[in-house]
Amino acid sequence: MKFKKMWLNINGANRMFACNPEKDSLADVLRRMGLTGTKVGCNVGVCGSCSVILNGKLTRACTKKMRNLDDYSKVITIEGIGQPNNLHPIQAAWIVAGAVQCGFCTPGFIVSTYALLLENNNPTREEVRDWFHKNKNVCRCTGYVQIVDAVMMAAAVMRGEKTIEDFSLGHQEDGEYYGKPITRPTALAKVCGLADYGDDQELKMPAETLKVAMVQPRVAHHAKIIRIDTSEAEKMPGVERIITAKDIKEAGGTNIMAEGHFFERTTLTVPTRHVLCEDKIFRYGDVVALVCADTKDHAREAAAKVKVEIEQLPEYLNYLDAVMPDAQRIHPSTPNIFAQQPVLKGVGLEEPSKVAELIDNSAYSVEGSFYSTREPHLSIEGDSVQAYFDEDGMLAIQCKSQGVYSSIGRIGSSVGIARDKIRIIMNPTGASFGWSTHAGDLCLAAAAAYITKKPIALSMSYEEHQHFSGKRRPCYSNGRAACDKDGKLVAVEYDYGMDQGAYTFGGDDIISKPSRFAFFPYKVPNVAGLTRIAITNHNFGTAYRSYGSPQAYTLSESLMDMLAEKAGIDP
Ligand code: FES
Ligand code: FES
Repeated sequence: MKFKKMWLNINGANRMFACNPEKDSLADVLRRMGLTGTKVGCNVGVCGSCSVILNGKLTRACTKKMRNLDDYSKVITIEGIGQPNNLHPIQAAWIVAGAVQCGFCTPGFIVSTYALLLENNNPTREEVRDWFHKNKNVCRCTGYVQIVDAVMMAAAVMRGEKTIEDFSLGHQEDGEYYGKPITRPTALAKVCGLADYGDDQELKMPAETLKVAMVQPRVAHHAKIIRIDTSEAEKMPGVERIITAKDIKEAGGTNIMAEGHFFERTTLTVPTRHVLCEDKIFRYGDVVALVCADTKDHAREAAAKVKVEIEQLPEYLNYLDAVMPDAQRIHPSTPNIFAQQPVLKGVGLEEPSKVAELIDNSAYSVEGSFYSTREPHLSIEGDSVQAYFDEDGMLAIQCKSQGVYSSIGRIGSSVGIARDKIRIIMNPTGASFGWSTHAGDLCLAAAAAYITKKPIALSMSYEEHQHFSGKRRPCYSNGRAACDKDGKLVAVEYDYGMDQGAYTFGGDDIISKPSRFAFFPYKVPNVAGLTRIAITNHNFGTAYRSYGSPQAYTLSESLMDMLAEKAGIDP
């Protein structure tokens, strides 16, 4: 590895540093210098959270290798645009317009806006949108309207048509919030790049913190594990400890997460998700070992040397394959279809086939088959967890859990530490939209800290995280709907088949959603419906915005449109 001394002019001051120009990106260097307002989300140049201005040009710092920069290149970061006691109009406008939600994308957007307004201080809303599109600034929270509002406000100030004082900064001081605009309490830090998210926390951990890399073989969706060979990895530089399922059990853990059923009354599923897989791989993103080392690079290099020998098993990658009569059980303890929920109403309560008769004999009827897809949450920030024993002897886990207490329950006895000795602390959070309701990442961090007895930091790459985290469940559906000659609904029948993925947790909850939401809010007098849910070898299903309703409405709203068209009525 060859290092080079370099100079950059950063926010007006010349700064000297050493870097590895072949390996380091501009984002790596800035963040090492403490300029953590340059956030790294995707790390492959498609989200814009790392935007800076380099020699006058808007640049995504994560893909700009240092070998391509000359000494004394001029860099403007979010820290150079404005500070809490000296806000730039763009930052003030972002706060007032409500353009900050999780805030992870915010510094990148503000830097991008700064570059836009240098070029064109009177853009149209369309031009603002085009600029962000062209420069790949992505926000997963706001929906962009407030962001464009903020740019238009800031541009008006910069043209001298308004002053920053024209913006109302809310009514927090009188304590009367109802019905009034207020500013987000965390917005000031976020617009200045001073909110410290997971990877920023990791940078600030003490020097003795071990870095953890996952061994995620990604060789099969369903396989028997024959052997995990860590011998070569153990000899790699900087490796302190390699952890497998055996180590977790020796430390007193069950290695099984306490994620069985969602509702206490449910008895149909038992916990099946391993912290580290030992006998079988159930899905592509499963993890079989952890490497703890002195640096992130050493941990990752050693993780790549762990050899995993497998025997391929049949892979069931969708609901239809998993429910075939000859499909093997994915979890021996549970049939692949593990829950079903009927809905019967009107004549359907007497006999479901009577609903079919009503539909057959109605003035208008339609029939269709539909599919709603698996969806990733794609929060701009990925997954970064830190764990350590704190001053009270508690195992503290800093993360972005969506339920700090429920996560403790889900870790359960899996890693060997008592639940009342676990403390979950929310980091400033770049959103999750549902994926962080599961605690698999927290179990990995807890196991590493508990077994090594050292502070640890686990930061997944965006790709690793996409394979590791849950998704919205895909769903097949068939259905029919019928109305009389005046367009009044007579009856519907439907059959939903949901793909729960590899682990059943939450399946007993989601199954009620299509059954409740299908054909809501229409008055349907006669119904014969059924929802079934099956284990497959795909990523497990988890919480997501509008949990369960897109699957329902894909069928019912489509059928309603088709029926209206057939009956000649405007839907
Ligand atoms: S574009 Fe650089 S982190 Fe996404
Ligand atoms: S506020 Fe933009 S990603 Fe959260």
